[in-house]
Amino acid sequence: MHPFARRVSAIAPFEVMEVLGLARELEHGGADVIHLEVGEPDFATPEPVREAARRAVCDAPMTYTSGIGLIELREAIARWYHDIFRVTVDVDRIVVTTGSSAALLLALGACVNSGDRVLMGDPAYPCNRNFARLFDAEPILVPTDSGSAYQLTADQIRVRATPDTSAVIVASPANPTGTLVADDAWDGLIAACDSIGATLIVDEIYQGLVYGRSPHTVLAHTDQVVVVNSFSKYFQMTGWRVGWLVVPPGWTRHIETLAQNLFICPPTPSQHAAVAALSPECAPILDARRREFANRRDVLLRELPRTGLVVDAVPDGAFYVYADTRAIADDSFAMVRDLLSAQGVALTPGRDFGDHAPDTHVRIAYTQPVPRLLEAIQRIVRWRSETG
Ligand SMILES: Cc1ncc(COP(=O)(O)O)c(C=O)c1O
Repeated sequence: MHPFARRVSAIAPFEVMEVLGLARELEHGGADVIHLEVGEPDFATPEPVREAARRAVCDAPMTYTSGIGLIELREAIARWYHDIFRVTVDVDRIVVTTGSSAALLLALGACVNSGDRVLMGDPAYPCNRNFARLFDAEPILVPTDSGSAYQLTADQIRVRATPDTSAVIVASPANPTGTLVADDAWDGLIAACDSIGATLIVDEIYQGLVYGRSPHTVLAHTDQVVVVNSFSKYFQMTGWRVGWLVVPPGWTRHIETLAQNLFICPPTPSQHAAVAALSPECAPILDARRREFANRRDVLLRELPRTGLVVDAVPDGAFYVYADTRAIADDSFAMVRDLLSAQGVALTPGRDFGDHAPDTHVRIAYTQPVPRLLEAIQRIVRWRSETG
């Protein structure tokens, strides 16, 4: 047989999988593991969404839909932008996708040529760099720090750009930091991308999960941007695999061709269910859960100093805290392994999120109820006193 393509070895597995494997072994042996490594909500998909899926499976044709999704869902998304953000988005610019993973693939597939460069902050969502590699493009990981809330700046974009930089990826709120692009930074980012001739791709997957502020969309500033979104996080539908893109005017036909060839269409039952996720019936359920995440975040930020972990940029969104481990460990990867075996607390090592200072950070996901978070804090304090 022919050897695997080079890109297979260029794409590294997630380090957190090793953590998960160890956690499973410990649990098999009877240990109580607190999972703060998992990047998905611990809430069940809201009942109105499940009910809509049940109805659809019984009554609606379970055939392929259009490659860009059910018109009812695309219209519901357009209405949602109007009602929540007061932004008018033409339904023709909305493309339903198989989660935001497919949305990111389609976005990069549409604007990146082999050999191009894709700028992104470091730390960032690990798949972004691998998606770029899949298209034989080069991901350029630009180190960010707390000075810009771990977000790329317009100056960094200008300085790091080359003639073959075709795309810039930004996420707000971001994974792993939970930080947002400042309101007054958007116009600069848009202008910087415009000046270097690159497409700005904004991942808004955690958009609804913001605390102490209103949700934001870059679409309020420009239509010359590709927006990635999903029903996975705020709508608590990770396994349903449905998300969407908002593309600039004139792009849909090209994205549709790619989408048809790659995916035929997003899952039909999930698309029917997603319409219900945007309904007024779901809004109070989702808002109550958002408030619960806000409460967990506050508890964690209040209690973390007891552990020696340091959070140096305010996580205003998502459900992650990115913490500096230097005060308590030389190597965050070794710390994650040791903390898990000794105390049964699972975190995600910084290594998964880039090359910049990966061994001095961990990501903590507050996808557990408050009593479990407090128990985890206790265990980290105990681990520290036993190892330190
Ligand atoms: C920033 C970011 N973008 C995209 C995704 C992919 O999510 P999905 O494909 O479930 O929509 C994730 C998942 O964790 C993420 O954190």
